[in-house]
Amino acid sequence: MIPPSLFNQTRLLNVSSLRFIRDRSGVAYFSSSSFNLDSNIDSLKNKARAPHAHNNTPESIVSKIGRNLHRQPDHPLNIVKQRIEDYCQSYAMKKYKKIKTNENSCESDSNTIKFQIFDDMSPIVTKKRCFDDLLVKPDHVSRSPSDTYYLNDELLMRTHTSAHQTELISRGVNLFLCSGDCYRRDEIDSSHYPVFHQMEGVKIFHESELVPNDEERSNAIIEEDLKELLTGLAVHLFGKVEMKWSADYFPFTDPSFELEVNFRDQWLEVLGCGVIEPQVIFNAGREGSKGWAFGLGLERLAMILFQIPDIRLFWTDDKRFHNQFVGLSKDHQKLVTFVPYSKYPLCYKDVSFWLPSAGGNPSVSTYHSNDFYEVIRDVAGDLVEEVQLFDEFTNKKTGRTSHAYRINYRHMDRSLTNAEVDEIQFKLRHELVTRLGVELR
Ligand code: PHE
Repeated sequence: MIPPSLFNQTRLLNVSSLRFIRDRSGVAYFSSSSFNLDSNIDSLKNKARAPHAHNNTPESIVSKIGRNLHRQPDHPLNIVKQRIEDYCQSYAMKKYKKIKTNENSCESDSNTIKFQIFDDMSPIVTKKRCFDDLLVKPDHVSRSPSDTYYLNDELLMRTHTSAHQTELISRGVNLFLCSGDCYRRDEIDSSHYPVFHQMEGVKIFHESELVPNDEERSNAIIEEDLKELLTGLAVHLFGKVEMKWSADYFPFTDPSFELEVNFRDQWLEVLGCGVIEPQVIFNAGREGSKGWAFGLGLERLAMILFQIPDIRLFWTDDKRFHNQFVGLSKDHQKLVTFVPYSKYPLCYKDVSFWLPSAGGNPSVSTYHSNDFYEVIRDVAGDLVEEVQLFDEFTNKKTGRTSHAYRINYRHMDRSLTNAEVDEIQFKLRHELVTRLGVELR
């Protein structure tokens, strides 16, 4: 149901979690911001709609801007966010002492520092913040318009909350948690959705917390603190579970790690993290500083914790869903298990077509399956539960390739009629021809 690992295989990097993948191309991959999002949701949406030759962000995506599920009280994503924030604050209270920079300064009563919380930064970010600053290679697949929603050549919908690292670090924020909606063009199934939520944690150390002129020992201190915090977080969320750390890869941390927990007899990857690359700190204008960063997917954690079987449920207005989480944003101990309510009937339709060929050469195609998924999302929205490629072959004589997909339609809140689905399917077939240039079979 939920992919066991989020980083090591392409499809796992999806919606429900962290987005950095090690591959479609071999390397892991995987935003400037304004504040007080609430007051300017409309202007953000208009910004996202501004016509540009390279704007590939459809209205179905624009309409999600400002929904801010992670900030709705008693929404499962908010519950998970709250639990993580509370735990991190209690860790900071125990562990991080305020550094007195000026003896005469008027310090607050507490002697410890807290994580600063950011949860309303604009999801529209620059390519620089999202990729360049984080050392994502210019030709990395995560940057491609088949994977990322661009607004123009400079602006895009953030693909991960790491997009805020250099901005916040450059502003001198040394300890923060930053959560928000992230966007990626993706396939369609129960754990993938083009909008998902992440949380980023960053700590920049004060030199007095490290060992002067000793990189190795300083890095060891950073790594140890990072792992102590996150191991404690896993216990806070999942109880006393078995855990394992393994090496991972992200362009912006080194060393990098992933944490897996054994929950209900399954090994599940829950987060990625590491020591921030010096070059990233340099890009933030803080050359010589050191720190750690971690990132986690709120949907993934909520799906595991509450046993929520379908990622689309986070977007439903159905009371049968929301009533099950009432009071949980305040009660941080309680673990509830989601009880699925009866689903409305499924209706499936198949579609098969010859892929368009590039420049008259049948063996080269411009087709990308994410374009197909997006046409479906545009035409059918959340009515599509899953799309499976069930047949693929290349005709030896003509060199042309055919794909056959099964599309499962189901409404979250009512029954669909066959006539209604036929109409959608008809429209879909039409759009596939006009937008992707496929030849229906
Ligand atoms: N941004 C990464 C992802 O989306 C996660 C990450 C954050 C990894 C911070 C390391 C440090 O997969």
